[in-house]
Amino acid sequence: MERLQKIIALSGYCSRRKAEELISKGKVKVNGNIITEMGYKTNFSDYIEVEGHPIETVEDKVYYLLNKPRGIVTTASDEKGRKTVVDLIKTDKRIYPVGRLDYDTTGLIILTNDGELTNYLTHPKNNIEKVYVAKIKGLITKDEVRKLCNGVFINGKKTSKAKAKILKIDKKTNSSIVELIIHEGKNHQVKNMFKAIGYDVLKLKRESIAFLTLDGVPSGEYRELSIKEVKKLYGEKNNQD
Ligand code: URA
Repeated sequence: MERLQKIIALSGYCSRRKAEELISKGKVKVNGNIITEMGYKTNFSDYIEVEGHPIETVEDKVYYLLNKPRGIVTTASDEKGRKTVVDLIKTDKRIYPVGRLDYDTTGLIILTNDGELTNYLTHPKNNIEKVYVAKIKGLITKDEVRKLCNGVFINGKKTSKAKAKILKIDKKTNSSIVELIIHEGKNHQVKNMFKAIGYDVLKLKRESIAFLTLDGVPSGEYRELSIKEVKKLYGEKNNQD
């Protein structure tokens, strides 16, 4: 929530002082009602008219890095009323997640109200690197890992080149831990890549996006990105393939 005069000034319609003058003269409407109260707080989604002209409201941009726990959905709102990643962040801004992580996937996800950064990070041509660590059922071989790197077929389409390495082979529990670095972000991409070579993913965590990691951010917690980090993200274009 912001003071009405600030929102009008941010829209570029006039200065904050002029906005105060117009409010006191009864020239400002919020959702159809004339507002003359000076401290009136309003929201960026409210419909504001000044002297009969609708104004475009612009919200300050915010950026959060969340360490998503299991059992949380990655949408702005869930029709089944389940908790969403947006519910974990205290803000009055209309933020949404950049890309998605499955309900049972944990790890790094960015939330913002900046559509430009969202497009940049999700557009395949920018090749933004994402690092996942997957625990899979069975004992994977080096040859199979090589297949993941060269590309596997998901719904008849070959995945682009990836990097992968085996972190652990556990014969006792008949499971393996593999680090997989991909640029693409199709739905269930990692699970489907392992499925394509005959393995089920038991646990999945996203460790990083570009240079951003989960360092200092425990599960369920978040931090704001600095402007420096946001600018650096735009420089992250990875032209390797
Ligand atoms: N790939 C998946 O299969 N699931 C995720 O949550 C993210 C990437």
